[in-house]
Amino acid sequence: MVYPFGLADGGARLELQARVLSPESRRLVGMVQWGSCKRAVDIGCGTGEFGREVATQLRPDSSIIGVDMDRQAVSEATARATRQSSACRHDYVHARIEEWDGEGAQTLMGRFILSYVERCAETVLALADRIGCSEFLFVEWYLGLVPACYPSWAALERVHRLVLQCLRGAGVDCEAPLRFLAAVQQRGDWSVSMRVEWPRRASTDGASVEYLLATGASLAPRMVESGLLHSIGAWDALASQVRREAQDTDRIMFLSPLCGVFGRRK
Ligand SMILES: C[S@@+](CC[C@H](N)C(=O)[O-])C[C@H]1O[C@@H](n2cnc3c(N)ncnc32)[C@H](O)[C@@H]1O
Repeated sequence: MVYPFGLADGGARLELQARVLSPESRRLVGMVQWGSCKRAVDIGCGTGEFGREVATQLRPDSSIIGVDMDRQAVSEATARATRQSSACRHDYVHARIEEWDGEGAQTLMGRFILSYVERCAETVLALADRIGCSEFLFVEWYLGLVPACYPSWAALERVHRLVLQCLRGAGVDCEAPLRFLAAVQQRGDWSVSMRVEWPRRASTDGASVEYLLATGASLAPRMVESGLLHSIGAWDALASQVRREAQDTDRIMFLSPLCGVFGRRK
């Protein structure tokens, strides 16, 4: 599977995504007992936003190894780690998780990764065995819902359907987190649970609009390639509608339900 969005924007979209979703993501990260974790592996680390979020919970002598198959993401993550101070050590490796030999760690984690990995349960659990970790945490979209800001349910539904269709067409498997949970439960050697975090407030600060537009901009070429939309014009029309509606901040809704999938070896 390829990562359909790419990081041609130098990770600006991932940074925006991290900012928009940080309340829900932080709540899920906060549910883990990090006390005994000295080393964590962050798969599909991108530019390292998630690892930096987790680092705030770890002991200062801990370390995080980020692994990503995108070379540009890995060098951006390394540059950011050098620029930004963190009590933890951050290292990054350029590799596909399917092929990475791994290094010993207590925790395996990732955010927005399961939907992009083929046969994610087998792949991720094989890696968990290679690194000998005792727990995992994945923060993912719940049922593939995406952030949206619209003045009415009808508009929300229409655009949501379109985005989901585009994601599917672009090769993003939105149901992967749920299947992952079921597959791990069936294996029986991990205790697993899922927690869904609904946003507690509607965002009217414009960040959700920016995020939707940024995501759409990177999806548009794939929409056309996959034949879902005949021309990027359709996206442009949608984008200007969203921009127009976004002026009226009182009516804007922002939905970003995330789920945390937690596991501990039995
Ligand atoms: C949606 S981004 C998430 C980035 C980061 N976890 C965050 O929350 O900001 C998904 C990342 O997973 C990486 N990725 C996808 N499949 C991968 C694989 N099989 N092995 C390693 N990295 C992968 C992509 O290159 C991309 O950087």
